[in-house]
Amino acid sequence: MSLNPDKKPVLAVIGVGPGIGEAVSHHFAHKNFAVALIARTESKLATIQNTINASVGSPVSKYYVADARSEQSLQSVFASIKSELGVVDVLIYNAGSRRFTPRTILETSSEEFESFTKINLFGAFYAAKCVLPGMLEKGSGTVLFTGATGSIRGSAGLSSFSPGKFGLRSLSQIITREFQTKGIHAAHVIVDGPVESDIVGGFVRRRWEKAGETERLKEKDLYLMQPSDLAGIFWWLYTQPRSTWTQELDVRAQREQMFSKM
Ligand SMILES: NC(=O)c1ccc[n+]([C@@H]2O[C@H](COP(=O)([O-])OP(=O)(O)OC[C@H]3O[C@@H](n4cnc5c(N)ncnc54)[C@H](OP(=O)(O)O)[C@@H]3O)[C@@H](O)[C@H]2O)c1
Repeated sequence: MSLNPDKKPVLAVIGVGPGIGEAVSHHFAHKNFAVALIARTESKLATIQNTINASVGSPVSKYYVADARSEQSLQSVFASIKSELGVVDVLIYNAGSRRFTPRTILETSSEEFESFTKINLFGAFYAAKCVLPGMLEKGSGTVLFTGATGSIRGSAGLSSFSPGKFGLRSLSQIITREFQTKGIHAAHVIVDGPVESDIVGGFVRRRWEKAGETERLKEKDLYLMQPSDLAGIFWWLYTQPRSTWTQELDVRAQREQMFSKM
């Protein structure tokens, strides 16, 4: 049964939490998209789905539970999305995993390396294989990947994070080379610093509170990228005219200093 009777264009976001994932979903939903919200935690997805639908005033988003590390899990979810919402017009691969307490390669387990790399890279490969055939049939589609500082710099302590993110960047370039002439716009967004999401944003805010840095707390957007502002960047990439497609861009907050390699 179609849950998209008005045949709105379809966005699928893999990696939906309260930060960038929710913000891009919210933004596209308000721009007349039907949005598939994908992550592993059903309760969180249900809350985000209900918030978006209440804000738009109609059931424009629907959640799907999947683990991006499993090709079978993504294949099954994309089959449901196709039959319930339609062919995916825009894919945003936002899932990512990293540790906050750095560990050397010798201290990093092979299991963590494998699991995180599957989230940071393999899931994007699996997802691209699910959506590209439909996009190619239509002759258009947009594939946006969320990168990080670790996409372009290998920093000590992040061996289970950066290699996958480097690979994701490469995959975005390969999609461009293979399919841009057939109407597919692929772009990689290097999010070069902390985002005001629950984990990283919360960690930075708590540090400021402890240090009594009230000025920073008042002007968080000087230091922390705001998910809603990032959502605007993803939308801008999607709406670029075909004579001027960006393949990669980087963004950081005005006074960001903690992670950025600029
Ligand atoms: N936050 C930052 O400061 C920051 C900085 C630079 C770059 N980034 C990049 O931004 C992206 C995340 O954005 P965000 O931090 O704002 O997070 P977010 O959108 O709030 O949440 C991302 C969601 O991805 C989901 N996810 C993780 N592993 C998954 C898997 N195996 N399968 C399906 N879903 C999975 C998680 O939900 P479940 O656990 O429920 O699956 C998580 O809530 C990542 O690519 C990250 O590298 C973040």
